[in-house]
Amino acid sequence: MKSSFQDQVVWITGASSGIGEAMARDFVKRGAQVILTARRADRLKRLEDELNAGKASPVARVLVADLADLSALSGLASRAIALFGHIDVLFNNAGASQRGFAIETPFQVEEHLIRLDLLSPIALTKAILPHMVTRRSGRIIVTSSLMGDLELPGNATYACVKHGLNGYFYSLAFELKSLGIQVQVLQPGFVKTEVSVSAITPSGERHGKMDSTHESAMTAEEFSLRVFPKIEQGKVSIYVAGKEYFAVILRHFFPGLYRVAVGKFAKSYLKDRMVHANPDPKL
Ligand SMILES: NC(=O)c1ccc[n+]([C@@H]2O[C@H](COP(=O)([O-])OP(=O)(O)OC[C@H]3O[C@@H](n4cnc5c(N)ncnc54)[C@H](OP(=O)(O)O)[C@@H]3O)[C@@H](O)[C@H]2O)c1
Repeated sequence: MKSSFQDQVVWITGASSGIGEAMARDFVKRGAQVILTARRADRLKRLEDELNAGKASPVARVLVADLADLSALSGLASRAIALFGHIDVLFNNAGASQRGFAIETPFQVEEHLIRLDLLSPIALTKAILPHMVTRRSGRIIVTSSLMGDLELPGNATYACVKHGLNGYFYSLAFELKSLGIQVQVLQPGFVKTEVSVSAITPSGERHGKMDSTHESAMTAEEFSLRVFPKIEQGKVSIYVAGKEYFAVILRHFFPGLYRVAVGKFAKSYLKDRMVHANPDPKL
């Protein structure tokens, strides 16, 4: 069956590793042309070469950017459109997680995370929307998280940005439908990527270590394989997760029990994650 991405131009942020990299390969397998954005130019160039190998004309182009620099995003969107002449799909996927308690995290660190994970996808979307509205077609995909439905200690800012993405993009899905623009929100559970290694600690440094929850999780390639059929079906809300999905069910249907469970399991959960943290939370 023909993919809905055949001959489409897809702009992927966070394409230098993990979910973005794996999905870039699968977008191209489905006949798309891709624009690869992140900060690590060497990684993007390697992926670009791999994707373009043996093709008559380029199917991948690199656009290096630091997406936390919000003032540059409008110009960046114009450069992205110019690469293939138009954009059919904006895949807002770049992001960083967090390892640290709010009380020990300077506001500047939280502000950076909010800029990168929440404001940047909103700003990019607003920069690309006029182009999609003029063409009366387009698709915006955003990578949120199960954390968009959950609250956990040590993750307050990350929970804040993922709840924010859910609120914004699920609302946008209603607003844009009549304009022929589709919005889809991906909510992954644990995926074995660099996300925990790159997570930002209270000092603003990288966590530098893979959590056991991510070490034993599905790979980004498996995630991609599982998520694409749901994207192609046109679903707005897309969960792909392992048994951690039960936390979402608990949170929605038994919120009191959820709080008791988090209190009970938080200490062992945090022990693995909080290499830099010192407070012993009273949960
Ligand atoms: N893995 C999971 O368990 C999981 C679960 C739920 C949701 N997610 C979400 O999935 C998305 C992708 O994460 P991942 O798991 O694939 O982790 P990853 O391998 O760490 O990928 C993160 C991507 O974001 C890019 N990025 C980070 N900061 C950036 C910046 N300032 N400017 C531009 N690009 C930036 C990184 O590229 P550079 O470092 O080269 O800039 C990288 O390509 C994130 O939004 C994450 O929150 C992941």
